[in-house]
Amino acid sequence: MDFKHHPSTDFRPLEALSRDQAADEIEALREGIRHHDYLYYVKTEPAISDAVYDQLFDRLQALEAEFPSLQSENSPTQRIGAEPVSALNKREHRAAMLSLESVQNDDEVADFIKRLQRDAGGGDNDGDGDDAGGGDDAGDGNQGPVALVLEPKFDGLSIELIYDQGVFSSGSTRGDGYTGEDISHNLRRAAAVPMRLHKAPRHLAVRAEIFMPRSGFTALNRERVQRGDEPFANPRNAAAGLMRQLDPNRVAGRPLDLFCYELLEIDGEAAPATHHQLLERLADWGLKTCPLNRNAEHLDDVRAYHAELEGQRDTLDVEIDGVVIKLDDRARRETLGVRARSPRWALAWKFAPREEITTLEEITVQVGRTGILTPIALLQPVDVGGVTVSRATLHNADEVQRKDVRPGDQVRIIRAGDVIPEIAERIEQPGQTRALSFAMPEHCPVCSTEIIRDGAYHRCPAGLACEAQLVGQITHYASRDALDIDGLGEETARQLVERGLVHDLADLYRLETQDLEAMEGFGETAARNLVQAIDRARRPSLQRFVYALGIRHIGARMATVLTRRFGSLDALLKADRTALERIPEVGPEIAAAVVAFFDNADNRQVLEKLRDAGVEVEDVSEQEPAQADDSHRLSGKTFVFTGELAHYSRREAQSAVEARGGRATSDVSSATDYLVRGKDPGSKAERAQDLGIEILDEAEFEQLLEQG
Ligand code: IVH
Repeated sequence: MDFKHHPSTDFRPLEALSRDQAADEIEALREGIRHHDYLYYVKTEPAISDAVYDQLFDRLQALEAEFPSLQSENSPTQRIGAEPVSALNKREHRAAMLSLESVQNDDEVADFIKRLQRDAGGGDNDGDGDDAGGGDDAGDGNQGPVALVLEPKFDGLSIELIYDQGVFSSGSTRGDGYTGEDISHNLRRAAAVPMRLHKAPRHLAVRAEIFMPRSGFTALNRERVQRGDEPFANPRNAAAGLMRQLDPNRVAGRPLDLFCYELLEIDGEAAPATHHQLLERLADWGLKTCPLNRNAEHLDDVRAYHAELEGQRDTLDVEIDGVVIKLDDRARRETLGVRARSPRWALAWKFAPREEITTLEEITVQVGRTGILTPIALLQPVDVGGVTVSRATLHNADEVQRKDVRPGDQVRIIRAGDVIPEIAERIEQPGQTRALSFAMPEHCPVCSTEIIRDGAYHRCPAGLACEAQLVGQITHYASRDALDIDGLGEETARQLVERGLVHDLADLYRLETQDLEAMEGFGETAARNLVQAIDRARRPSLQRFVYALGIRHIGARMATVLTRRFGSLDALLKADRTALERIPEVGPEIAAAVVAFFDNADNRQVLEKLRDAGVEVEDVSEQEPAQADDSHRLSGKTFVFTGELAHYSRREAQSAVEARGGRATSDVSSATDYLVRGKDPGSKAERAQDLGIEILDEAEFEQLLEQG
């Protein structure tokens, strides 16, 4: 049985196996799964499909369930089902986890490299007679060679990982460098952390950076916003937030990755003599190292590397904020030693800051889709880490007051990752005469309607009679999660409204190529493409359409809830507050917003016009309304599965139960409601029979899923 290279999923029935045979198969499966985890997470070169991987995993789970004495806490299956902890325990590090001295410019890097040569006994051996004292030879750029390793400076979370006999034993955060917090439970659920190493020494403690890849972060935040949760400010906070969870189930399935970069302790094998050899060893053991690490010898190499990574900074999937320059020779590191908090053998060279000071010229007010007024700071344009910034949001009137910014003030701008620039603070200028403090306008700057106060916000109540809100509504209607109309962004929407071509959503469907051709930035092709894209958006699903209407408080998830409950636009139109509030996820505020939207005569008219323009919202199909509120149908019911099902993997069957509010467990007990018996059932079926538990075959199980 070799599941590494030739994974066969043609398994023998469980009962046909002796304990020894099962033990052999389990061992082979564990090895195979670890190997494929390694290829997937460390090498990022998967060799099998997800479907085959799932089958191997399911088989291992089934075998372990059938032969509980063969279970092991180091099995890949044990990543699943870890228990929450009640608090994060303190953990002392084996060796101090120091920080890095960091510098901003290459003169200091030149000094550092010179020092390395001198203090580590290398001397100035480039033959130009330049002595090591001055550190001012940045002009020629080349000092004598000194073996260095260059690495990105990751902006993640520094952690310690400990392996004993090649098996993951614990992990902790850096904390103050001496004591951190035990996060083993969460690391066990982070798939990028290997639970077992290949041919590793008896004992190993390594330092690594765990982080959330930018791509995963964007997706996670989208999901959070759609659910109505606060988005994380940046990937670093997201990763740190996950690592400090008490319940490891929140970590499972989250996009987390890591790079290992230092050795803290090793036992049972000599430590590699150089850092680049250590990086190779780490990779041999199965620990992920960064592919951007590089060997170097001269200041020029370091400069080139710094420039290259700074250029790639925004396109890399990992956030980095500089480069780390390390002495390669580990014995020489020892001789150099450490300062109070940082070693003398390494240096961080940070990228240009994404922070700048500029003048606030004016505060204007922008009107959004829902009529909310947002104060915007117009700034004297300034380059912040390679991007010219001329505007920053001030959120609301309270925020302007809190920051006390006024036209003419000097302000500090920060730009983190891809997010919109923010004003961090005002910089006090003694003796300066300041402008009057900002006040929100009393009338809408776009349509002159009187502004009303809405909690922390100011709002223009004119609705779609206000052009700014109409532009916002069109943009939202066309956005990706709504009707996904390609080529209809904010700029186009604004032109359509300003030129009087569109007065409401229904007008979009009457646009013709000639109308669009006259607009700025539109040629014949673009005009034709947009008309076609709008035409394709005539049969939206109910969920997308409800979301696209831009009803207050109705995000994508709530649109799903309403769709499931009502199944058709007509049914939703008829719903009153009582009917809406009967839905568990819907509170009084949401119910009121939905009713108010559909009661509004203008909105009714737009819906009517959309219908006349040929927009047909697709009802949820015939049998689906029965499933409409299926999220609770199996609520409180506990299922156990045994044997193989023909149409479901174990995971699919479990998810199907969970999607309906039920629970799937692995052991039969008096708390079990149903035992689902597949092909080649195990001993659980007998136990269920003994306990008088209802036993379902696959067809009965499917029926239960469908009808409840
Ligand atoms: S080596 C003793 N290498 O930067 C030197 N650190 O204060 C140990 N960091 O929180 C650190 N990327 O976690 C090292 N390639 C890298 C790094 C790195 C990021 C972090 C480190 C620490 C901070 C420096």
